[in-house]
Amino acid sequence: ANSSFVHQIADDDIPVGAICQDPLNDTSRAMHAPHDLFGARTNSLGFDLDRAPHLARVQAAKVPAVTTVDTSASEARAALDRAHGAFGSWNEAGFETRSQILLAAADLLESHTAEAMQLLADEGGRVLADGLSEVREAVDFLRYYAMQAATMGAVKVLPGPTGEDNHYWVEGKGVFLAIAPWNFPLAIFLGQVSAALVSGNTVLAKPAEATPRTGLWAVGLLHQAGVPHDVLQCLPGEGPVIGDALLGDSRIAGVAFTGSTATAKRINIQLAQRDGPIATLIAETGGINAMVVDSSALPEQVTRDVIAGAFQSAGQRCSALRVLCLQEDIADAQIEMLTGAMQELRIGQASDPATDVGPMIDAKAAGGIRQYLSAIDANGAQRLAETPLGVFGDDPRYVAPQMWRLADNAMPDREVFGPVLHIVTYQSNQLQATIERINDLGFALTAGIHTRSDLRQAQFARSIHAGNVYVNRNQIGAVVGSQPFGGHGLSGTGPKAGGPLYLTRFIQERTQSTDT
Ligand code: SER
Repeated sequence: ANSSFVHQIADDDIPVGAICQDPLNDTSRAMHAPHDLFGARTNSLGFDLDRAPHLARVQAAKVPAVTTVDTSASEARAALDRAHGAFGSWNEAGFETRSQILLAAADLLESHTAEAMQLLADEGGRVLADGLSEVREAVDFLRYYAMQAATMGAVKVLPGPTGEDNHYWVEGKGVFLAIAPWNFPLAIFLGQVSAALVSGNTVLAKPAEATPRTGLWAVGLLHQAGVPHDVLQCLPGEGPVIGDALLGDSRIAGVAFTGSTATAKRINIQLAQRDGPIATLIAETGGINAMVVDSSALPEQVTRDVIAGAFQSAGQRCSALRVLCLQEDIADAQIEMLTGAMQELRIGQASDPATDVGPMIDAKAAGGIRQYLSAIDANGAQRLAETPLGVFGDDPRYVAPQMWRLADNAMPDREVFGPVLHIVTYQSNQLQATIERINDLGFALTAGIHTRSDLRQAQFARSIHAGNVYVNRNQIGAVVGSQPFGGHGLSGTGPKAGGPLYLTRFIQERTQSTDT
């Protein structure tokens, strides 16, 4: 393990940071601005259709055919053998080299934007605007982590008494297992994988069962950019098969997981029960995300932000708005305006540029939401509004965007991963009580408030439990480097993806003290 130290010392004439330019200040490799997606010609959710790069190119792009590859337990173990064997040399390759490879991957991905958007629409049901912002987010992750890693390889000299030299450096931990979700099969997948890789780890990347082609494609791109094949291997297939094969093995140094809280807990138990060292677990899980709207809010802005937060990506974002808490005095008028806006949403195929809301990931997920709706209906909930599905009503993958009020003004008791918005009302003197009702749900991912009162903005930001608080805007679409994303409580372990501390969980700190 000391070899990486030796490598750094031997190469210390290479100026750290000179190879990797700062993507934030390099216009040829620009990070994407938060407002990139808004412009002149928009569809009803506000997406700029003109900026979607050449629709014809997206439609003509060749994407990999359907794969039926299912990694078996023995294949997963063989992949782990290879990843373990490849760790030493990858770790020694140094942060600057790995950082450069990530920048090359970012450029490569950017030049394949149309192909990626096609794949995301085709396999993941991602509408084109979502696909475009997802490609951009993936590119941003690659550049952001590359930029951070560029200076991480430097060996620091630390103070000490005369006659003692103290050195500090960081290196990779070993083999990381990255387990990605289907709702951001490119951006979250590449975010996890690139963070682990650039820090010096080798990676076994498991795409979601519903999106193996996107995972395989993204891994192919990283190989093309220069990541050796044993350093990064893609393991498409069933979670329980691959998880059981790998999580009990002491050579797994860490797991980066995005998915449900229940699965994160199961992974944690499996890692804890194995013989061997304590593993790192980075888990980004769910949320029952709320927005509070008081009587000073601007109803048109609220409508725009609620529609985007609750229904963009058909509500299949962990950041999505699930509970809208309206002050009684304005509730009826706001609900009426939302109802009107919901009639304007266009349901359609993911690949149709006019589509606002596409399908659920599959018929099973849609069926689960329909079951939930039947259950709340039977318990006295009231459906306030619904977007007409039209011809898509016959397709079992579609769920209409809809707005409900549960019996007794109750909060929902679970995360419903689709276009279902719950309405709760509160009296003007119940703001703090409403914040506490939200906090009592136990999650802490995103939260929003619409108010023109500075005092209420401050009160909300101070007392709401949420990793990401949004004021007078929507609460989705966190931008790498601007809104580091992730929650706590039932919503995850942190650190935040696209934030200053994310890479720190993927590295090992080392020191060497020498008596001179
Ligand atoms: N990062 C995404 C967002 O902010 C959710 O996963 O919408």
